[in-house]
Parts: sequence; C-alpha cells; structure tokens
Amino acid sequence: IFFSLISLINFEALPEKRLPSAVIMGVRKCGTRALLQFLSLHRDIEIAKEEVHFFNRKWSNGLDWYLSQMPTVKRHQISVEKTPGYFISFQAPSRIYAVNSAAKLLLIVREPVARAISDYTQIFNNRLARNKSKLAEFDNLAIKNGRVMGNYKPISTSIYHLHIRKWLDIFNPNSIHIIDGDNLIRNPLEELRKVEKFLQLDPFINNSMIYYNSTRKFYCMKKDSKNICLGSTKGRSHRPVTNQTIETLKKFYYPHNKEFFKIVNRTFSWN
Ligand code: A3P
Repeated sequence: IFFSLISLINFEALPEKRLPSAVIMGVRKCGTRALLQFLSLHRDIEIAKEEVHFFNRKWSNGLDWYLSQMPTVKRHQISVEKTPGYFISFQAPSRIYAVNSAAKLLLIVREPVARAISDYTQIFNNRLARNKSKLAEFDNLAIKNGRVMGNYKPISTSIYHLHIRKWLDIFNPNSIHIIDGDNLIRNPLEELRKVEKFLQLDPFINNSMIYYNSTRKFYCMKKDSKNICLGSTKGRSHRPVTNQTIETLKKFYYPHNKEFFKIVNRTFSWN
C-alpha cells in the first residue's frame, strides 16, 4: 500500500527552485524591467522579481545562494532573471557559461543617445533622492572641450559593440537574442513573440493581456484581473540636453553603431 501511495504522488509536478534557463543580461535603461514583466505573463515563465547581480557582484555568495534567489517553478516552467549590469561586466559571460553553457541570453538595446540620457537622468534623480550634491548637467559631463567623454559610464555603456564582443567570445551567437527596445515600447507583442520562439515556448502572450495606457503613454499589463503599469521611474521625462550635445553624440555613436550592426548581423533604425 505504501509503495502504491508513493507512486501516486507525482514528485516531478511539485514546485521547486531551478536555475534560470534564460537571463536578461542588459542593457540598463533599454526596457529590461518592461521585458521581464511582460515575460511574466507567460504561463511557462516565472521571474526573479529583484535584480540578482550574482554573476557580476555576488559570485562569492555561491550557487546555492543564487538558486535561493530564483522563483519556485512547476515542471513545465522556466525561471528568468534580469540583471542589466551583466552586460558591461568582464566576468559575467564566462561565469554564466560555467554555470550553464546552454543558457539563453536576452539582450535589449535602444537608440544609444536616448539610453545615455536616460542613464544620466537615473543617476541625477537618485542623487537628488539621497540629498547628495547636485550632479553637473549632462552636456558638461558627456562632452568636454568639444570631445565626447567615451569613458563616462552613461556614454560607454551605449557603445554596444565593445561589450557584446566579450559575450560572443564565449557564447554562440545563437544563444543570444536581441530585442529592439524602441519597438518593445511601440509594439510589445511583436517583440515578445520573437522571444517566445527563441525560448522555445508556445506563443501565449496575447492582446488580451496587455493594453495601451494613454495617461502613461506606454503599454501596461492585465494580470490576475488587475491593471499593472511599471513604476514612475520607468518612462520618466529626461533631464534637459542641448540639441548640439545630441547632434555631437549622434555623430559619435554612428561608427560604433555600424560596428555593432556588423557584429550582430542586424541593423537598427538608429543611424
Ligand atoms: P525612460 O525612463 O528613459 O523612458 P530599464 O527597465 O531597463 O531601466 O528601462 C527603462 C525604460 O524602459 C524606460 O526608459 C522606458 O522608455 C522603457 N519602457 C519600455 N517599455 C515600457 C513600458 N511598457 N512601460 C514603461 N517603460 C517602458
């Protein structure tokens, strides 16, 4: 009787924690939170709600710790985590590969000048919130004596080809799917359908799960009969920047963008 009872329990169906099959590894300020939240609409996906920072900052915490940060999943489900800081980290690519050489990597990119200004706006606002001294304006930090400060982090993070090279040194290009962040804003389902395909999941996320919120001017989600939009730090107005700065930066990024397009064998509408 004992053994027949045991055999009735489907152990595999019990929820458990599992390492992520897919990681959103960047890029910061390109829509990483929107992408993660939209993916959580899929019945086969559970997400780690907080950024985990294991492969860049918390490696010494060990794999058990990493696993403990993952959501509980059912047998048919996969877990997904996002940590935008992985993209610019030197160690993250080889560490992810060491843990799971079959990991699927999701990279969301956005027009690089807008990304840089969004990045700066976040840093500016965070300082303000912490009552720290006011940050100089973007125009003065990004360009000095007519020269673009390529080492300034909001500028360097947008030089996508510099960073993607490290990943392609280690991962097969087929392991990396690039999401067009500008299109995720305009047409989320189109981008999500491609992600589902890349993750080898059924096409599940559909029109009935998202809606356009004309006050927020972004798509939001319908989940468990609730309407959910991202918080006010997503899609906020940017700090003012002169047209001249924008023009100079567009010129600066032009060859870098071309290099990125060549490496990933795909173009975006930035140049
Ligand atoms: P801005 O605040 O510059 O507009 P991340 O989550 O990686 O920090 O990215 C933030 C960006 O996500 C926002 O940048 C916003 O443009 C973009 N985004 C994309 N889809 C969004 C959505 N549905 N709701 C809010 N923001 C969205």
